[in-house]
Amino acid sequence: MDLGIAGRRALVLGASRGLGAAVTNALAQEGVTVLAGSRSARSDGASSLPEEVRALVRPIAVDVSNRAALTATIAAILGQGPIDILVNNSGGPPPGPVRAVEAQVWEQHFAAMAANLFEATRLILPGMIERRWGRIITIASSGVEQPIPNLGISNAVRAAIVGWSKTLSNEVASDGITVNVVLPGRIHTQRVDELDAAAAARSKQTMQAVATASRASIPAGRYGTAEEFASVVAFLGSERASYVTGSRVRVDGGAIRSI
Ligand SMILES: NC(=O)c1ccc[n+]([C@@H]2O[C@H](COP(=O)([O-])OP(=O)(O)OC[C@H]3O[C@@H](n4cnc5c(N)ncnc54)[C@H](OP(=O)(O)O)[C@@H]3O)[C@@H](O)[C@H]2O)c1
Repeated sequence: MDLGIAGRRALVLGASRGLGAAVTNALAQEGVTVLAGSRSARSDGASSLPEEVRALVRPIAVDVSNRAALTATIAAILGQGPIDILVNNSGGPPPGPVRAVEAQVWEQHFAAMAANLFEATRLILPGMIERRWGRIITIASSGVEQPIPNLGISNAVRAAIVGWSKTLSNEVASDGITVNVVLPGRIHTQRVDELDAAAAARSKQTMQAVATASRASIPAGRYGTAEEFASVVAFLGSERASYVTGSRVRVDGGAIRSI
């Protein structure tokens, strides 16, 4: 299927590795110029792309937890040209129970995972509205539908993202802009390895035992690949997905038990 977005320009945040890097590469393979933002300004996997695709990936340094730096970077990006596709993503919070989280820690993670992404979107939206075309995709977590034990901050902050995204989708649908949230279940990235290692240390099991049990709990019987996840995001970012908005899209191998 031709996704119909060759020549478009995207900003992917949290793009140096894992889900963000895979989304960057998937969009570039569709002919999209991708500004791939992260603190380290790399983009994993881009070096194995064909040269003409790799040339479309432009790593940029940006720290989404630093609002002033983020807004300055977005102003500079918009000074060079429009953004048609925005993929809101960032690093996940540390694991832990929710009951002991102090207000200051909530504020810190809400800023990095939610408020600063809302602000990035606010700055990019006027250009999309003017051109009457835009795609805003935010990566959240299956934890918003089925809270994940010991990932309290993620479960809570990401629920706010879903409310924001749905409200925004209604406000801009008639401007030709779609706004959707994607919910990864267990997609095999470095973060998932780190979470499995932390769970192994807590439960005094091997990491392999934790991962095996985790895979067995998923109807598909395995973790997803970052490429499988990225294909869904690329579709939501495409011309073909023009009538999909205000949705939460699961990419979880059936892990969420409810319908
Ligand atoms: N993988 C899954 O199955 C899964 C499931 C549910 C939710 N999620 C969530 O989806 C997001 C991506 O997951 P992932 O597995 O790809 O995570 P990951 O492997 O930890 O990658 C996180 C990415 O975000 C970037 N990043 C982190 N902090 C940043 C900051 N302050 N400013 C800019 N970029 C930042 C990192 O690059 P730098 O370090 O270079 O900045 C990296 O590129 C995370 O928030 C995660 O919690 C993932």
